[in-house]
Amino acid sequence: MGDTVLELVRNTVGAEVRGVDLRRVDPAEFAAVHRAWVDHSVLLFRDQSLTDDDLIRFSRRFGDLDLAPIQETGRRFVEGHPEIYVVSNVVVNGEPIGSLGAGEAVWHTDMSYLEDPPKASMLYALEVPPSGGDTWFCDMYAALESLPAELRRRIEGLGLKHDGTYNSGGYVRQGVAATDDPRNSPGAVHPVVCTHPESGRKVLYLGRRRNAWLVGLDLADSEALLDALWTHVERPELSWAHHWRVGDLVLWDNRCTMHRRDPFDAASRRVMHRTQVKGEARPAA
Ligand code: OGA
Ligand code: MN
Repeated sequence: MGDTVLELVRNTVGAEVRGVDLRRVDPAEFAAVHRAWVDHSVLLFRDQSLTDDDLIRFSRRFGDLDLAPIQETGRRFVEGHPEIYVVSNVVVNGEPIGSLGAGEAVWHTDMSYLEDPPKASMLYALEVPPSGGDTWFCDMYAALESLPAELRRRIEGLGLKHDGTYNSGGYVRQGVAATDDPRNSPGAVHPVVCTHPESGRKVLYLGRRRNAWLVGLDLADSEALLDALWTHVERPELSWAHHWRVGDLVLWDNRCTMHRRDPFDAASRRVMHRTQVKGEARPAA
């Protein structure tokens, strides 16, 4: 496609990219996709037909991949594809094939409890329920830019502890003892206002609400400040909901977005395969 610009349809956050077959992305197309991803934070590609190998190959264009985290059931990965994490409510022979069930997944950024959280996640839809199970994305640049000045002043320069105890479905992670004191739960501390390493823009980095702690503050002060921040970021104008079709691939930038998922009927099937691209420590603003 030479130097033609990608066909993009913008959402409140993110954009749909049209006319690209992710099994065959030439270097010029990839450069345009990468640029669009940095510019729009979330990209949707519809009508794809990818094998697990295709998904891994496209994902690797962005960098080395993380191995899939251990699912809450203790299951590790898809046989032969340790990079692929399964998000599903499907149960086979009494054993869930994936994570997160059919319930709500609360707002979060993937694996921010690690020192070096993944920079990108990709979710590919293999089976989708007839309704529900939409995935919402929140623009954390816009969240910071629209923050009341007084609130921003109170958080600037602070570190935020990101909890590694619970996943977004509320399940306790494998090998972790449940605790509800964020001061001594496992997790990593990142600046609450970061600079995005590729766009250079400042961004609010919240991870998830449960067991979060603004390091150095009294727990009660931290809770009050975090509640104010979360009330702000949950404003509808900061987010976009994606209603899935089979063959959709959504690629998001974990450094400047959060996502959540609506619940869906547990009697229907939803099967998604996810990859994650290794990231780096979060630079302070
Ligand atoms: C994820 C995730 C939500 C969804 O895969 O990281 O949060 O809609 N998924 O499946
Ligand atoms: Mn997630």
